[in-house]
Amino acid sequence: MGWSGGRRCSGNRPGRRGGPGREGRLGVWLGSGPMDVLIHLFVGLHIIGIAALLGGFFTQMKAMGEGTVRFVPAMLHGALTMLVTGVALVGLNQAEGGTVNTVKIGVKLALLIVILGLVYVKRDDETVDKRLFGLVGLLTVTNVFIAVLWT
Ligand code: HEM
Repeated sequence: MGWSGGRRCSGNRPGRRGGPGREGRLGVWLGSGPMDVLIHLFVGLHIIGIAALLGGFFTQMKAMGEGTVRFVPAMLHGALTMLVTGVALVGLNQAEGGTVNTVKIGVKLALLIVILGLVYVKRDDETVDKRLFGLVGLLTVTNVFIAVLWT
């Protein structure tokens, strides 16, 4: 994505050894070496984090209309997962010699910190202001589109 070469085809990252002939069937299927497998695993966990955060948000849509909306635990755990896996992904990609788009990551991190702060502070409130709740959903969706559209 953001770094030179991109994660989907990491064969052109600087400093990579070996070529197509060196990798077995599994290696070709997965993209390449163990480091790439690790990065892909963390991307998977990152996506599970989005699922929890956004899925938790969607479970509250009806409550939003009824004025009984609240931040559910899945949203807090999802936001925390996003932070941990996101930071790990930056580290893993830099360790592999790729470059990350620091402005893009910085914007995503800033939005996530707002999300996490709101969800954490209000986690025990029986109901929250629906505008505040809506803001968390909006920021999450914004982050998804920043992730996929900002190249
Ligand atoms: C609500 C918050 C976030 C959302 C919704 C989100 C969403 C996504 C999505 C959909 C992807 C996969 C897109 C792609 O690879 O083209 C992605 C990748 C990535 N995210 Fe996030 N993200 C969030 C927070 C963060 C944070 C806080 C960081 C870092 C501190 C981060 C770092 C990364 C990195 C490094 C990748 C690239 C993985 C790769 O291409 O190898 N993300 N994110």
